[in-house]
Amino acid sequence: MTQAGGESHDNRTATNGTNDQNDQNGTNGQAHEAFVDGSVAISPNTPELVPGLLDQIASSGKTLSSGVPKARVELLDAARSLVYALETPREAMIRFCWSQSTAYAAVETGIDIGLFTVLSKDDNPKTASGLAEAVSADRKLVARHLKHLGAMGVIIETGPDEYRRTGFSTLLSLQRYSDGFHCMTACATAAIHALPAYLKKNGYCNPSNGKDCSFQIGFNTDLHFFEFLKETPEAAIQFNNHMSAYHQGRPSWMDVGFYDVPGLIKQANTGEQDVLLVDVGGNVGHDLSEFRRKWPNAPGRLVLQDLPEIIVRAKTVPLHSSIELAEHDFFTEQPIQGARAYYMHSILHDWTDDNCRKILKNLIPALKPGYSKVLINENVVPEMDAYWEITSLDIVMMSLFASMERTVDNWHTLLESVGLKITKIWTAERGVESLIECELA
Ligand SMILES: C[S@@+](CC[C@H](N)C(=O)[O-])C[C@H]1O[C@@H](n2cnc3c(N)ncnc32)[C@H](O)[C@@H]1O
Repeated sequence: MTQAGGESHDNRTATNGTNDQNDQNGTNGQAHEAFVDGSVAISPNTPELVPGLLDQIASSGKTLSSGVPKARVELLDAARSLVYALETPREAMIRFCWSQSTAYAAVETGIDIGLFTVLSKDDNPKTASGLAEAVSADRKLVARHLKHLGAMGVIIETGPDEYRRTGFSTLLSLQRYSDGFHCMTACATAAIHALPAYLKKNGYCNPSNGKDCSFQIGFNTDLHFFEFLKETPEAAIQFNNHMSAYHQGRPSWMDVGFYDVPGLIKQANTGEQDVLLVDVGGNVGHDLSEFRRKWPNAPGRLVLQDLPEIIVRAKTVPLHSSIELAEHDFFTEQPIQGARAYYMHSILHDWTDDNCRKILKNLIPALKPGYSKVLINENVVPEMDAYWEITSLDIVMMSLFASMERTVDNWHTLLESVGLKITKIWTAERGVESLIECELA
């Protein structure tokens, strides 16, 4: 960390291990470099880990071929760790500084010009010229983008200026998924990029105000994220699509063997007016649709609640006829009394503890003692070995909302502070959102 008034931008002479005592004391802002030998840049990062990782890869590889479901994830983790261990710090620096942002830009441009739609028509290799013609874009420009996309593994280079699709590039031809890129550009990435400057300006305090965090700097606005989305309808659609797509393929609490859905249903009242599930802040209804698909015979009403502008959108989405739509601001009192369960997916992580307490206090009067459950579908950050998707999201939350992904202790503290108790936390596997079941304390 640079000392106030210190120079941090020109450290070229400080990397040979000869820094004087002033450096080590941090008096000129270069304390963090005191003992660093510059040759570290060109030797593998952690070579001592390589043999163990190779063994792990060999054994996970065997398990993969025998069809054990978790083997793919374990192999991927080990392979990723092997890359980190083998690459030199210089290579890691370039990966962060050059490749990630440029690959992102190339993908987004590819989406914009329809490149992936054309490429994904079939498995046949396609030339840069043919692709450029098909998307009506400059041949040289397209060829340069294709080269980078090939180098980054987004597509496969099959010959000079010739490429074929991959699963990833095929996915990018579907708007529900490609909108993740547009969503991040329209309402997130600039805030993340602004985070270091925001933190520096604010003395490295943990952000705690969603109306004054790096989001407002990055997007040059004084609106809260959700107010901003309301003002930018295109970004809102992209955000909704991203919300509906980001957790695809991961275990869901509605799957058999994750949470006790049969227990929830079995003890639910089955009168015509009884509500089984209220999805609070349920966006355009993807979770309730999934629930109805997986539990077609579950009795009771399913109610989707969100802000008016989102409910308008949800009306354009083909939802099962049993799903009711209702406008509801969760900072106001919950209008549906005594439902079997009130479900919140990725809601509380958007808000600081103070705001979460307001949301929960508006829900609690609706709970029927001994009957109603609050089901919170969120990440629970483990003490060790947190998955990178969770830690990434934690920094995204810090940037967009001044909020956070929570640990088990954080969840207990928050929920108990409003008179709820956690009855059980169900977790299917590493990196996947848990189901936190609560009831009135
Ligand atoms: C991160 S998204 C999660 C959406 C959905 N539960 C899911 O997991 O896909 C947060 C949702 O909260 C909604 N929201 C934000 N502020 C709200 C408010 N004051 N009242 C109700 N919903 C709100 C947003 O419109 C959005 O749909």
